[in-house]
Amino acid sequence: MKATVYIATSVDGFIARKNGGIDWLPSGGDTEGGEDYGYQEFIDSVDALVMGRNTYELALSFDLWPYAEKPVFVLSSRQVDIPDGIAKTVESMCTPPGEVVRRLAKRGFNHLYIDGGKTIQGFLYEGLIQQLIITKVPILIGTGIPLFDSLPHDVRLQHVETRQFENGLVQSKYEVIGNVA
Ligand SMILES: NC(=O)c1ccc[n+]([C@@H]2O[C@H](COP(=O)([O-])OP(=O)(O)OC[C@H]3O[C@@H](n4cnc5c(N)ncnc54)[C@H](OP(=O)(O)O)[C@@H]3O)[C@@H](O)[C@H]2O)c1
Repeated sequence: MKATVYIATSVDGFIARKNGGIDWLPSGGDTEGGEDYGYQEFIDSVDALVMGRNTYELALSFDLWPYAEKPVFVLSSRQVDIPDGIAKTVESMCTPPGEVVRRLAKRGFNHLYIDGGKTIQGFLYEGLIQQLIITKVPILIGTGIPLFDSLPHDVRLQHVETRQFENGLVQSKYEVIGNVA
């Protein structure tokens, strides 16, 4: 099983404002010009998403459910409201990261997209992420929800490539080499 993080951060490392706001991310207008920062290619390469409840609630607030027919697993310790329109492809789980990977591997999934700050941190903590694709947006927001948090060990990365875009976004891809005690 492969698990990848594909996420945008401010230069100071936040994925959202404290209140969850992502108004500072480039708007849809940027993608109308045809630039999607490799998103479509990436999403086509995964066979399921695993996201935290907060990220799910953000996705639910969009006019259109962004993941089409792709299976989505929402992690939460609470009851998760799943509207009928997406109930065929969305499931909730209250499961530690290692067990999520075991269960989804058993169900035949091969490549997971892990999304949401706390969720990514949980998977990294357990050494379950193989690839990170991080797009830095040229802004400092000072405070917010961080992408990374403490780890029980260092995580050694190999830089694969960095692409820069005309609007100043810089996207770096890393493979996780391993955990260093
Ligand atoms: N910049 C970007 O590209 C980007 C991408 C995605 C999201 N975001 C932003 O990031 C914010 C969300 O990040 P976040 O750090 O708040 O969290 P998150 O990972 O989306 O959600 C955290 C919640 O997920 C649940 N959870 C995670 N792991 C679990 C597990 N193993 N078992 C059970 N429940 C688990 C818990 O929900 P319960 O409290 O219900 O138990 C936890 O409170 C949103 O505001 C969104 O705007 C930004």
